[in-house]
Amino acid sequence: MKNEIDKQYEYMEKVNKINEGQNLQYAIYTMGCQLNENDSEKISGMLEKMGYSKTEDIKKADIVVFNTCCVRENAEDKLFGKIGEMKKQKEEKGTIIAIGGCMMQEEHIVEKLNKSYPFVDIIFGTHTMHKLSEDVYHILEKRAKIQDVITIDGEIYEGIPIKRNDKTKASVTIMYGCNNFCTYCIVPYVRGRERSRTPNDILKEIKELANEGYKEITLLGQNVNSYDGGNGYKFSNLLRDVNKIEGIEKIRFVSPHPKDFKEDVIDAIKDCEKVSKIIHLPLQSGSSNILKKMNRRYTKEQYLSLVKRMKEKIQNVVFSTDIIVGFPEETEEDFEDTLDVVRKVNFEQVFMFIYSRRVGTPADKMEAQIPEGIKHERFNRLKELVESMMEENNKKYIGTIQSVLVEGKSKNNPNMLTGRTDSNKVVVFEGKEDLINTVVDLKIVSEHMWYLKGEIM
Ligand code: 5AD
Ligand code: SF4
Repeated sequence: MKNEIDKQYEYMEKVNKINEGQNLQYAIYTMGCQLNENDSEKISGMLEKMGYSKTEDIKKADIVVFNTCCVRENAEDKLFGKIGEMKKQKEEKGTIIAIGGCMMQEEHIVEKLNKSYPFVDIIFGTHTMHKLSEDVYHILEKRAKIQDVITIDGEIYEGIPIKRNDKTKASVTIMYGCNNFCTYCIVPYVRGRERSRTPNDILKEIKELANEGYKEITLLGQNVNSYDGGNGYKFSNLLRDVNKIEGIEKIRFVSPHPKDFKEDVIDAIKDCEKVSKIIHLPLQSGSSNILKKMNRRYTKEQYLSLVKRMKEKIQNVVFSTDIIVGFPEETEEDFEDTLDVVRKVNFEQVFMFIYSRRVGTPADKMEAQIPEGIKHERFNRLKELVESMMEENNKKYIGTIQSVLVEGKSKNNPNMLTGRTDSNKVVVFEGKEDLINTVVDLKIVSEHMWYLKGEIM
């Protein structure tokens, strides 16, 4: 039997022939996490092989792909708004509209799309993304709508072409899916069970990236420290092997789960000089009571003792985190526990979310949902605390020397360059363009809420 991806390359070729000489363009609208961003890079890779070139202007596009996320509710309203805007363009220009990703694994969303947005051409799920070329071919040939969503766990497909957004840093997905079933989270339902790529495939990809000049790698997965490369090869082994790859200077990873953070991973972070010493350690709540209801399988005390152990073992380690406020049944005392952990850990960065009910998850069925007003009030209190701690934290950078990988020109000021400290703080500074994709030492001269200013040493 022909390899599935070989078959898809044939479709890319066929579409490319049909499109020849027409200068067709594609646009991608990506929602959600870095895993989705990485999927979108693969969608770009396939579209380019089909003969489309990228445009940032959706209005000019002959094919538009929406890569969706369903982790929180506001994404849905946004998506439907965007698709609604496409109707006129579809009528005038015949733009092909494809919608894929996590949200398409939810039946009620696909139903709504079919009912209210019948002009959408292709609907694909998380397990069928690799077939986009085949789908586009059928649209061009038959002009018939395609719906290709399956609920079984997808296989891992190696060799999908990829067009990366960046030239200095690259994301590498090491595993797909999640087995944890945190009670608020839709991910296990839409991305299926955990599947790890083989160490060989991952290391080969990273070596190729190093050869192409990439300096920073982010290893991606819903729960990276339960990575299972087979024959006892674990996430800590992978970190050590990536650390050996010449040319790669910085290694980051998202996201680990506190319950799976074992000593071997802590040791690997400590030993591997390229592994960033900012660890993203999703807390979700500081209350043991709520953590239990979230099915997180650690307590406040266990989280704090993990942080303490890491601070003892790993020099200069700092943390970032995700926090949800307003989970069902969250009391004022529970919320105070969250604030307490924030104060104790002193996070460098906190991604804050208001609990959002997700159809099909256990938390959605819990009775004591928190009123919107209280959720927002708690969110604002958390935000205030985080911002005041950040301000304080930023001050400690002044006068320090930071080694920074130069990523490019600053978006807000093209006369300046930008990069990030090891702890992931954005630094802007004056410098020549040829410094891009090199590592420079910067002296930090001032701090601002969202960035630091530096000077080349
Ligand atoms: N409501 C709010 N935030 C959520 N997250 C996941 N599910 C929900 C939800 N239902 C947050 C978690 C997770 C991050 C990616 O999104 O904090 O770590
Ligand atoms: Fe969702 Fe929990 Fe899995 Fe993260 S670990 S994707 S929050 S179920």
